[in-house]
Amino acid sequence: MSVPDGYGLLKGAHVAAAMTFVGGLLATAVLLPASRRLPLAARPVSHLALRWSRRVTAPAMLLVWTFGLVLALEGRWFSDLWLQMKLAFVVLLSALHGVQSGALRRWAGGQQPAPMAATAGAAPLILACVTVVAFLAVTKLT
Ligand code: HEM
Repeated sequence: MSVPDGYGLLKGAHVAAAMTFVGGLLATAVLLPASRRLPLAARPVSHLALRWSRRVTAPAMLLVWTFGLVLALEGRWFSDLWLQMKLAFVVLLSALHGVQSGALRRWAGGQQPAPMAATAGAAPLILACVTVVAFLAVTKLT
């Protein structure tokens, strides 16, 4: 068994952060549409979801970007089409996290999340983006 070098360790940390980030996005994407049908007594769920988003999902997203940028600089990957395409999908996922955060804040504040943020279509969209991102990162096709 060989010991991973600094680049290998960084890549492992990058993938771990990406899994945490995507897990948070998916959990919120399932919860927000359900929020419209939950009774008022379920309000504490919104506070838990908001706290998880702020304390876990958002820092994980920052780590994904930080580790990813360092990997790209160290490996000189920026000129590769696979990374440029991957970045477009990751920007979309990061923007979705912003939309979800706003919706969670509204829900925790006692308001209905905006319909766009609470659409049931968000989860399949996230899954589709992550599939493309992982495929591009692993195969480096293009
Ligand atoms: C949701 C977001 C992301 C996911 C799910 C993701 C996923 C992955 C995976 C699975 C790998 C491992 C590929 C392999 O070893 O075969 C990887 C590597 C990598 N990622 Fe990401 N990534 C994300 C975001 C980013 C961002 C934002 C950047 C750059 C700014 C980035 C740049 C890289 C680079 C340069 C590598 C190393 C490629 C290599 O050396 O093989 N990633 N990513």
